[in-house]
Amino acid sequence: MQKVMLSPSLLAADFSDLRSEMEWFNKSCADWLHLDVMDGVFVPNISFGFPVLKAVSRICQKPLDVHLMIVKPEKYIMEVKALGAYIMNVHYEACTHLQRVILEIHEAGMKAGVTLCPSTPVSVLEEVIQDVDLVLLMSVNPGFGGQLFIPRTLDKIRLLREMIERTGSHALIEVDGGITRENASEVRRAGADVLVAGSAIFGHPNPSEICEELRSL
Ligand code: DX5
Ligand code: ZN
Repeated sequence: MQKVMLSPSLLAADFSDLRSEMEWFNKSCADWLHLDVMDGVFVPNISFGFPVLKAVSRICQKPLDVHLMIVKPEKYIMEVKALGAYIMNVHYEACTHLQRVILEIHEAGMKAGVTLCPSTPVSVLEEVIQDVDLVLLMSVNPGFGGQLFIPRTLDKIRLLREMIERTGSHALIEVDGGITRENASEVRRAGADVLVAGSAIFGHPNPSEICEELRSL
């Protein structure tokens, strides 16, 4: 089994000192930077928008993993592309015409990820699993960092892994929310390829060390 990939979530960073946060981050073994955009409509919280992300993209030297917790994410494909994002994740629950949105993200030259809330079953992906590059499984209800991991997610990861193998899809499985050094190896064993962690990494006094630890699972 390949090493697990790590996508630390900027949501838990010190926003008053993003330059210093990016200094350790760029030197760390983290693979991607996870960016949580919230609109106060799809989720009951507002995080940061494109002007802040533009500034971060100038000092971040790793691929950007953009997670849009917003309604009508297709309206912002060009803004996400302008950040130089590697992957654009849209919520299944926010897209009426998901298949078209996936095509449009690909046409814009980015990897396409589909995100599922905890209450959405993996089976809704059956018709698009061969078109997506990544499935982002939420292991908390989206909107806030620092929440507790929902254990049922482990079964969802296994079900998704089965679907990917059965259909020959190349999609990666990314898991987001409540990941800690205590539960990370179980999440990995269930079949996750990429772990998102906010508070466990940015909230730690030695974030690079935690990255090493999580990535060596
Ligand atoms: C939650 C976000 C997560 C969040 C994870 O809505 O999608 O990416 O930053 O934070 P932790 O790891 O603290 O649960
Ligand atoms: Zn996220």
